[in-house]
Amino acid sequence: MFLAPLAGFSDRAFRSVCVQFGANFSYTEMVSSEGLIRDSQKTRRLLLRAPNEQFLAIQLFGSNPETMAEATKILLRDFAPSLIDINAGCPVKKVTKTGSGAALTRDFITLGKIVAATVKATEEFSAESGCPKVPITVKIRSGWGKTPTFMEAAKASFESGAAAITLHPRSCEQGYSGKANVDFTTQLAAEYSGKIPVFASGDVFSPEDAGRILTTTHCDAVMFARGATGNPFIFENTRRFLTEGSYESIPLKRKLDAAFSELQLLIEDKGEDCACREMRKRFCAYTKGMEEGARLRKIICESKTMEDYRRIWKIL
Ligand SMILES: Cc1cc2nc3c(=O)[nH]c(=O)nc-3n(C[C@H](O)[C@H](O)[C@H](O)COP(=O)(O)O)c2cc1C
Repeated sequence: MFLAPLAGFSDRAFRSVCVQFGANFSYTEMVSSEGLIRDSQKTRRLLLRAPNEQFLAIQLFGSNPETMAEATKILLRDFAPSLIDINAGCPVKKVTKTGSGAALTRDFITLGKIVAATVKATEEFSAESGCPKVPITVKIRSGWGKTPTFMEAAKASFESGAAAITLHPRSCEQGYSGKANVDFTTQLAAEYSGKIPVFASGDVFSPEDAGRILTTTHCDAVMFARGATGNPFIFENTRRFLTEGSYESIPLKRKLDAAFSELQLLIEDKGEDCACREMRKRFCAYTKGMEEGARLRKIICESKTMEDYRRIWKIL
């Protein structure tokens, strides 16, 4: 059970909370290979590791195989990730127009070259440093428009040395709307069964969703994305559901305690002003379904300091 890469969410504050509540490991949001080789401090800050993160998956994006290989070596040297994941799924125009992200799900040739170059970089680093070889994995979409291209993208990745493939079975055009096509994940998991692991992403909003996807697709792991925001307990609940068949709802105080610890960690990294603003949408997500939700969200949306956020306790 992994926390998916989530731009704007999966920084170390949120990752730390997810690990605390049972995520096996978590992915950073996608980081730019160009930013890394330019030594961008903003990019490097995204890669800080939380003290409780024994395993860290770093996701990298870019379209130039040489740059991706160079960035891979920087990641290995400076951040000791447990795996490096290539982003072949981001649908944002700014990213796809450079040939990165979801553009790679239909440009299998470049995708294959990127995987081969980054795998070679991990082999070279391992030989030079004596450290074990870090796996390169790939996260793809189902394709563009009506044409599914995930099978070709997966084949190019596999043949170039990818150690696992995650499928988010929505097309690039779909973005995050409509339903994820679980049949595609089933097809992919069947094709790679016994070869490399396949991880499922898409519409995993509850322990029941995770259980259903694991059972029907025969994939090797599930990734929680939007289903984990404001609900890091989904990891422990899913574990309980899968092992004991049931789980309990989380008491309000426990939810708010988790939100406050995420805020506290974010303040340590970004300073109070920036963290309190950025945390608003994330804090609101924790209040979903609460009886006092609307009143709490009003306070949250006006909060500029930790003290402002603490006013929440007064109305409960
Ligand atoms: C706000 C947001 C940011 C995301 N950022 C990334 C990212 O940086 N890299 C990536 O591979 N996928 C990213 N995704 C996609 C998710 O990892 C996941 O595949 C997708 O949301 C489908 O899962 P879900 O339907 O359970 O949310 C993002 C999704 C959302 C909603």
